[in-house]
Amino acid sequence: MEDIKVSEFDLRETLSDSKFGGVWNLMRGFRLYYLGATLALGLSAFSKTGMFLLVNVLVDDVLANKLVSLLPWVALGFIGLAVFEGVFTFTSGRLAARTAEGIAFRLRNYLFDHIQRLSFTYHDKAQTGELLQRATSDVDAVNRFFLQQSTEIGRIILLFAVNFTAIAAINLQLALTSVIVIPVLFVLSIYFFGKIEKSYEAFQNQEAKLSATLQENLSGVRVVKAFARQKHEMEKFDAESKEKYRLGIRLLLIHASYWPLTDVIAAGQMVAGFYVGATLAIAGTITIGDYLAYAGMLIWIIWPMRNLGRLIVQGSTALVSYNRIAGIIREVREPLETGTVPAHPLRGEMIFENVHFSYGDETSVLHNINFDAKPGEAIALMGSTGSGKTSVVNLIPRFYEYTSGRILLDGIELNTIARQFLRANIGIVEQEPFLFSRTIRENIAYGVGREVSDEEVYDAARAAAMHDVIVSFPEGYATLVGERGVTLSGGQKQRIAIARTILKDPRILILDDATSSVDTETEAEIREALERLMVGRTTFIIAHRIQTVQHADRVIVFDKGYIVQQGTHEELVEDEGGIYRRIFDVQARIEEEVQKEVGSREQGITTQFLIPNS
Ligand SMILES: Nc1ncnc2c1ncn2[C@@H]1O[C@H](COP(=O)(O)OP(=O)(O)OP(=O)(O)O)[C@@H](O)[C@H]1O
Ligand SMILES: [Mg+2]
Repeated sequence: MEDIKVSEFDLRETLSDSKFGGVWNLMRGFRLYYLGATLALGLSAFSKTGMFLLVNVLVDDVLANKLVSLLPWVALGFIGLAVFEGVFTFTSGRLAARTAEGIAFRLRNYLFDHIQRLSFTYHDKAQTGELLQRATSDVDAVNRFFLQQSTEIGRIILLFAVNFTAIAAINLQLALTSVIVIPVLFVLSIYFFGKIEKSYEAFQNQEAKLSATLQENLSGVRVVKAFARQKHEMEKFDAESKEKYRLGIRLLLIHASYWPLTDVIAAGQMVAGFYVGATLAIAGTITIGDYLAYAGMLIWIIWPMRNLGRLIVQGSTALVSYNRIAGIIREVREPLETGTVPAHPLRGEMIFENVHFSYGDETSVLHNINFDAKPGEAIALMGSTGSGKTSVVNLIPRFYEYTSGRILLDGIELNTIARQFLRANIGIVEQEPFLFSRTIRENIAYGVGREVSDEEVYDAARAAAMHDVIVSFPEGYATLVGERGVTLSGGQKQRIAIARTILKDPRILILDDATSSVDTETEAEIREALERLMVGRTTFIIAHRIQTVQHADRVIVFDKGYIVQQGTHEELVEDEGGIYRRIFDVQARIEEEVQKEVGSREQGITTQFLIPNS
């Protein structure tokens, strides 16, 4: 295993415009193993021919001529041939396994890494189930081809060459008439190659659809249950499943009509061969002994012809799978390292100038965005849902590229800075944080990429108001999260995500609705921690509560992708007709009512206590 280096092998370089070129390139580094496997399988086939020869000796010399002394040698010969066959079959299997598993291993690992390096734009569109299917089922199909099928070519060529030469040595005309059906078989194989290719492709596509459906259903199982839509989901799955069934049957039918057809042709060839041979023997052109030898060898010349067709047809399925994999490999990775890396540590100044942005080629999401953030400032982003807040902050770590305008980070055009550098210096608490099915400690330490002490982890968790909760779990920081462990509440997840970002200690901090799922009290606690954290860092904080944003150096209000207001909390509150004032009023009124409610209830309680027995 140690000699299979995945990192040094760029599968993109193996891509080819020709149909078979890619598969051939894929074998780089394994071609000698493959050649060995092919040759060994071919050689193993000769033990059969050898056994026929030995039978000949046994019958003619030992039995007919009573040369009994030869008997032990004949016996030894049989054993020897069996060993010969065993050794070569084993060698071939070993080498084929090395080729097939090596190629599959490299392919799988490359795909894993490649997929995680594709852009956000790609992942927005790609279906997880479909990607899974290509990385597993299609890789398996390629594996199977190299393991079981492709080495047959050695046996086919060697058997054909040897037997054809031997027959040609007896009589050239006989040899030529024995292969007369080759063109027919060839044309037939090519025809079925195309048919099976198409049919198998449809089948694989359908399988991908089915696994995408399954994957989505599993991810959304809560919604399915909550809306009691099991029946509907089952019907949807059933329809996809039926289609796969139909395509599977069609594929099998094509296979099923191919084999008998070639069998009939092969049988025809055999009869024709025997007939021509017999005619030649009767005419005295060849001897009876020649005829007998010929009859034996004829079978071993037809077998390869028929199996070559089989191989061609099987190859078509491997080719389809390969091309489905190549489709992913062809996608261009998001370059992480390319771009400038600022020489000085980041100060964290950001300027947005006339920035426009759209996801893909759809309608524009952000229009003419202009604002700036001085180093260490806290900028709050507000606005109704869908107004473009997340889209703005997504541009900062270059998750997406702005379509026009300029964004300057410390005076450098953002889209010239290496993504790796940006992402190392930017900390994000996402709107819907994701935690891995690993321990809480691992989740918190995820972003730092170095060994961290327990103390550091605890401090980060404390700052995110999560430490006490974590130590209350029986296994504390070793508690497993998610599918294999505890299910955390939305607010707990958010706080672990905050701790993860705090520990990363980034220059630029992005908090996308980071405290939306925590109660007001915890929010106040986190806000305090965040305020400490925000000191000296440029922070972008998206929030809906006025309390969260009012201390920001500047509040920017978005509406439908435009900036509609910009200023400090005090300035914006002054603007009577503005959205911010409206939000402020609504929240203040709610606050007031709550206060009133609480006040009157407290009064009620007090009265109750004052007047006992009432
Ligand atoms: N990955 C995406 N691909 C295409 N369109 C998107 C994508 N993400 C968001 N959009 C669209 O961009 C617009 C702005 O979305 P965005 O997520 O920036 O809103 P938001 O202000 O963060 O809203 P919220 O407060 O609900 O989080 C929406 O119309 C949305 O449909
Ligand atoms: Mg958002």
